[in-house]
Amino acid sequence: MKILLIGKTGQLGASLLNLDSEHQWYAPNRAELDLESIDSCRQAMRQFQPDIVINTAAFHNLPMCESHPGRAFAVNCKSVRDLALLCKEHDTLFITFSSDYVFDGATDVPYNEYSPTSPLQMYGITRLAGEHAVMSVAPQHSIVIRTCGLYGTIGAASKGGNFVDNRIKDAQHLPHIEMGCDQIVSPTSALDLAKAVLTLIQHPKRKMGIYHLVNQGECSWYEFTCKIIELMKLDVKVVPIDRNGLSGDMRRPKYSVLANIKAKKLGINMQHWQDALSEYITAKYLN
Ligand SMILES: NC(=O)c1ccc[n+]([C@@H]2O[C@H](COP(=O)([O-])OP(=O)(O)OC[C@H]3O[C@@H](n4cnc5c(N)ncnc54)[C@H](OP(=O)(O)O)[C@@H]3O)[C@@H](O)[C@H]2O)c1
Repeated sequence: MKILLIGKTGQLGASLLNLDSEHQWYAPNRAELDLESIDSCRQAMRQFQPDIVINTAAFHNLPMCESHPGRAFAVNCKSVRDLALLCKEHDTLFITFSSDYVFDGATDVPYNEYSPTSPLQMYGITRLAGEHAVMSVAPQHSIVIRTCGLYGTIGAASKGGNFVDNRIKDAQHLPHIEMGCDQIVSPTSALDLAKAVLTLIQHPKRKMGIYHLVNQGECSWYEFTCKIIELMKLDVKVVPIDRNGLSGDMRRPKYSVLANIKAKKLGINMQHWQDALSEYITAKYLN
C-alpha cells in the first residue's frame, strides 16, 4: 500500500516511519507539504496517488491555541476538513488524530468513543470541531484516532521535547521536581500507538469513525514522573502539586483517561502504560 504521511518529524510520524518497511511511504517535509496549504496537499495527492493518508500534524501548543484561536481553528479544523475532502475525492482512506482534551474530565470513569464530549479550552474546542468537520464531509473515508500523553523517541518540537526525556533532564539539575497530581491521564508510547494504528488500518473488520488508542491504565503526571525516576534509579524527590486542573486561566480536564473499546473489540490491545514506559526507558537509556 502507498501511504502519504504528514508530520514525519513528529513523535508519532517518526515512530510510524521507523516501524514499518512493508508499505511504500511518501513523507514530505513541511516545506513540501504544509497542512495549511491545500494546494500543496493536492499536489502531493496527485503526484503520489496514495491508498492512505495519515495526518499526524496539528496545532497543539495549548497556550498558543488560547492566544491564537483563529490559527488553531484553521489548522485543527479547516485544514483537516480540506484534507478529508481531498481524500474523499481521491477515494483514499484518511487517518487523522485528535485528543483526550475533547472531554471535560468531570468523571472518574475512562471515556470511551461514545462518551459525550465537552472541551474546556480552545485547543479541545478546535480538535472537536475538526472531528465533526472530518466526519461530516468524508464519513466513508475517515478514521479519527483520539490519543493522550504521547512520548516518542523523537520528542515533540512544539512542546520542547517529550515528557519522559524532560523529567530525566530535570532530575539531573533540579534539587526536586514539582509535578501536577491533579490530572489523571493515559500516558501513551508513540511506538505503541504507531503499532496499533498500522494494525487498525489493515484490520479486515475495521470501520470508519472515531477510535481511542492509548496505553492501558491511568495515572497522574506526578505518578508518571515517580515511575520514570524509579525506573531510571535517579536520586531526586518528586513533589506533588495540585493546581486543580488550571494552567493560569486555562482549564485542563482533571480526568482524561481513555478506554479503547472499539479497538479492543477488534482484538487490538495496547499494553499497560507502566510496561510501555519501562520498554521506552530500557531501549533509550538502559541498554
Ligand atoms: N503529544 C501528545 O501528548 C498528544 C496528545 C493527544 C493527541 N495528540 C495528537 O497526536 C498527533 C501526533 O502528535 P505528535 O506528538 O506526534 O505531534 P508532534 O511531535 O508535535 O509532531 C507534529 C508533526 O506535524 C508537523 N506539522 C505541524 N504543523 C504542520 C503543518 N502545518 N503542515 C505540515 N506539517 C506540520 C510537525 O512538523 P515540524 O517538525 O515542521 O513542526 C511534526 O512533524 C497530533 O494530532 C497530536 O495533536 C498528541
